[in-house]
Amino acid sequence: ATTITLKRTGDKMPLVGFGLWKVQRSECADIVYKALKAGYRLLDGAGDYGNEIEAGEGLARAIKEGIVKREDVFITSKLWNTFHEKQRAKDIARHQLELWGIDYFDLYLIHFPISLEYVEPSAKYPPEWWGLDGAPHPTKVPIQETWTAMEELADEGIAKNIGVSNFQGSILIDLFRYARIEPQVLQVELHPYLTQESLVALSKTLGIAVTAYSSLGPQSWLELGMHTKTPGLLTHETVTSIAKTHSRSSAQILLRWAVQQGLAVIPKSSNDDRLKQNLQVTDFSLSEEETKALSALNVNYRLNDPQAIHPALGIFA
Ligand code: A2P
Repeated sequence: ATTITLKRTGDKMPLVGFGLWKVQRSECADIVYKALKAGYRLLDGAGDYGNEIEAGEGLARAIKEGIVKREDVFITSKLWNTFHEKQRAKDIARHQLELWGIDYFDLYLIHFPISLEYVEPSAKYPPEWWGLDGAPHPTKVPIQETWTAMEELADEGIAKNIGVSNFQGSILIDLFRYARIEPQVLQVELHPYLTQESLVALSKTLGIAVTAYSSLGPQSWLELGMHTKTPGLLTHETVTSIAKTHSRSSAQILLRWAVQQGLAVIPKSSNDDRLKQNLQVTDFSLSEEETKALSALNVNYRLNDPQAIHPALGIFA
């Protein structure tokens, strides 16, 4: 299979998508265009990534040239933490659609289960969040209020499917207690250093599709020189030896490991060859032994700790 069927709508979500996190604005339109031309049919964006206008430009170019139709592409975006109040959530989702130049999202996610004080959309990270000017201010918006906004966005056809990101199990279970429209997708960090087995099992039970992000491992922290005792996943011997067996790259092995478990992946690449290579992961299989060896690398080691974004700690404390 190359898609996952979402439970409520029956919509098909591609297993391999293109992630827009860390794609620079200056290169975003070109990269989105190239990704669509290479065959990607899912674009994973977010208000937080700051490149939605450019992503929309790349999409428009591909549509104009007849490479894709709007309905062929599964477009995901996310609600940033400063827009959790009901009306603000509804307004910003519409605004994000305008930035993209489209009239619906295939999927809209709550980016983090944490609400932060409203700031103008252009000032996502005011200096005080970084501890330069006192503590940041949380708002008192419960997830339930935000979820009501998400449900109304689904009712209105603004978002065909709705879901959540960076939610852990207990808050997900709580959401199911009151959801009129159940979340269709959970997007979380997931790779062999952070296998999230119980969260994946819970999602299966609840009928939610899981999208893994940072599938190639927690690279940027390593680039920053932290956790230097943990080798990058791409160069881990277990990964490179399996790659050799299959004559594939380490990245393809890591992506295949996720896809083979029924998890969607959204790797980002600014490089033409890597962008193409990351799409070629549905035409080979890992043995049970190889899958087990990769899963055994788990050390619960994460790049993005949702709790670390809480204002009480300071952002990314
Ligand atoms: P680059 O854009 O230079 O290819 P994320 O996990 O957030 O999707 O980020 C993926 C990271 O891994 C990026 O830094 C990207 O850099 C790099 N990358 C993407 N594809 C590959 C690949 N096939 N092999 C090695 N590195 C890759």
